[in-house]
Amino acid sequence: DRGGYRHFMLKEIMEQPQVVAGALRGRVNFDAGRVELPDFPFLEDEIRDFRRVVLTGCGTSLHAAHVGRYLIERFAGLPAEVESASEYRYREPFLDSDTLVVAISQSGETADTIAAMQDAKERGARLLSICNSEESQAARLADGSLYMGCGMEIGVASTKTFIASVTILFLLGIYLGQARARLSPEVRRDLIADLASTPRLIGEMLADVSQYKVLAQKFSGYNSFLYLGRGINSAIALEGALKLKEVSYIHAEGYPAGEMKHGPIALIDRNMATLALAPRDRLYDKMAGNIKEVKARRGIVLGVLTEGDTELAAEVDDTLFLPTAPEHLYPLLATVPLQLLAYYIALDRGCDVDQPRNLAKSVTVE
Ligand code: F6R
Repeated sequence: DRGGYRHFMLKEIMEQPQVVAGALRGRVNFDAGRVELPDFPFLEDEIRDFRRVVLTGCGTSLHAAHVGRYLIERFAGLPAEVESASEYRYREPFLDSDTLVVAISQSGETADTIAAMQDAKERGARLLSICNSEESQAARLADGSLYMGCGMEIGVASTKTFIASVTILFLLGIYLGQARARLSPEVRRDLIADLASTPRLIGEMLADVSQYKVLAQKFSGYNSFLYLGRGINSAIALEGALKLKEVSYIHAEGYPAGEMKHGPIALIDRNMATLALAPRDRLYDKMAGNIKEVKARRGIVLGVLTEGDTELAAEVDDTLFLPTAPEHLYPLLATVPLQLLAYYIALDRGCDVDQPRNLAKSVTVE
């Protein structure tokens, strides 16, 4: 049931306010300023012994892992690494019982992710899964799981399960920080209140999608896109580019904007579209610099900016605005316009958005 929408992908994008609210439900205690994860399989004493966190997954789930790394470093002060499961399983990584391995998988059945989990288990690591299916192999294999609880995702391109993964990783970061006495109750209370405001902010962004239809017409003719972001939003750039290539078949590359000078800038000319994520966060000035460099080479820039940012809006060709929010919410918020853009560009190109060619919802073979 597409719930009145033309495609499951759009329906699932529109469900995201409820998905975030659902991921928070029963996991936050506002009054005490505490994250509570009843399903977390390790005791506080064990958490204090963790020396590092390794996050793994494939595709969109790997991008969620990238976001998670920033959140865990920032909130828990633990060394955190990201590993693509399809590579990690063939490495000989050092893992021990002081390492928490977090495997992210919507389906819980992705062959490479399962193999990486098996390997981590054999090496004695502690294993947590973040997945959407309680009946999955990932759930069975892990010491414990944090479930996304967002209902079946039918669109082959993951949307709502990415938002759910990132929300849970946010909670996990705070939870680890809380157990390790890294975050004061006041800071935690603020973070939890910020998270709780996200469903409303996402809802505001979803209320009017008319601008995407106009932008889609303008951008659907480009053959190549660069998606740029910095810091935590560089992971959102990767995810935005993946969404576009999956559903519209336009070549799109996500790049950390600081790498531009080291090669990709050679691609810029008036036929190259650049989507630049430049919300008002700690790296805003750096992104503004990157945008100016692209414009100086006649690149076409679609800026994802914070509302009211008339200054940078004047530099770019087109804009999508995010509501003003605390900076750590921008990855969650910026995900939404990138999904909508991919969806409407694919529609404009007449693509089968719910079942893109060559892709399967669950990749159970290597
Ligand atoms: C992208 C997409 C894929 C999956 C990947 C992992 O939209 O759907 O990249 O994210 O195949 O799938 P799960 O999360 O089920 O392990």
